[in-house]
Amino acid sequence: MKTAIKIPGKVILAGEHAVVYGKEALSASIDRCVRVVVKPGRGRGYPEDKKGLIKKAIEIAGGDGAVGVEVESELPIGSGLGSSAAVSAATIKAVREYLGKPVEKDELFKLTMECEKIAHGNPSGIDPATVVYGGLIAFRKGQPLERLGISKPLNLLLVDSGRPEESTKEMVELVVNSQNKEMIINKIGKLVEKIKDKLVAGEPAGNLINENGLLLEQLGVVGKRAKKLSSELRGLGYAVKITGAGGVATGSGMMIVFGKDFAQAKKLLDNGKINYFETVIGKK
Ligand code: MEV
Repeated sequence: MKTAIKIPGKVILAGEHAVVYGKEALSASIDRCVRVVVKPGRGRGYPEDKKGLIKKAIEIAGGDGAVGVEVESELPIGSGLGSSAAVSAATIKAVREYLGKPVEKDELFKLTMECEKIAHGNPSGIDPATVVYGGLIAFRKGQPLERLGISKPLNLLLVDSGRPEESTKEMVELVVNSQNKEMIINKIGKLVEKIKDKLVAGEPAGNLINENGLLLEQLGVVGKRAKKLSSELRGLGYAVKITGAGGVATGSGMMIVFGKDFAQAKKLLDNGKINYFETVIGKK
């Protein structure tokens, strides 16, 4: 007997980093997943799991040593699409089901949060909340999440600016000493309120999300490579924002791109051999 579980990745549409300081953020699950299979036997050790998340998730689910776990992922690791939260949640859910002790979403959220504390010391909880509950959500640290109805599906291009060298934990710590932190966090908080209204009303929110992207650059969480790529895409009329914690030394993870159609963006990205994929949020 084996148990297989799929958990989706996520994008933060607006409000990352500010959410750590109690502001609201908007995020959504995406159509790319992590799949975990649990079988009888012993875990083979997980050399690719540098942070020990899989081991911790198995432990939290009560599956020590007695289960073999295989993880397949369609999500780039450490690039802002919630891969660590999705791996933890899928492993906990699969192991619990395998052991005949299925777990409900509220408990799964709490247990995934425990794992997230390894991935970064002071998680807001937005990553586990989005991957566990799914859909489009408004999230505020320590409060019940709000599910958002969205009247018009949102097409996004997700563009890979390169895997960050820094962990989420390091990026959150970097922001602690960022110049003008309070002012920027407050501005992001206000923007998120406006973006939420637009999304719910089915009105274009690209320009406001682009402003959020520029504020993240000011906050100091976006590296040179992603800034250059963003400015090229903005030059073609697209709205651009990194999604997730970002990174400065090399890549800044995935970026979200909005526009009427993506033909010009794809041409630019193909020429530069830059990876991307399309996704839709709020599809019925
Ligand atoms: C990471 O996906 C989002 C951050 O705001 C950290 C967090 O909220 O835990 C950077």
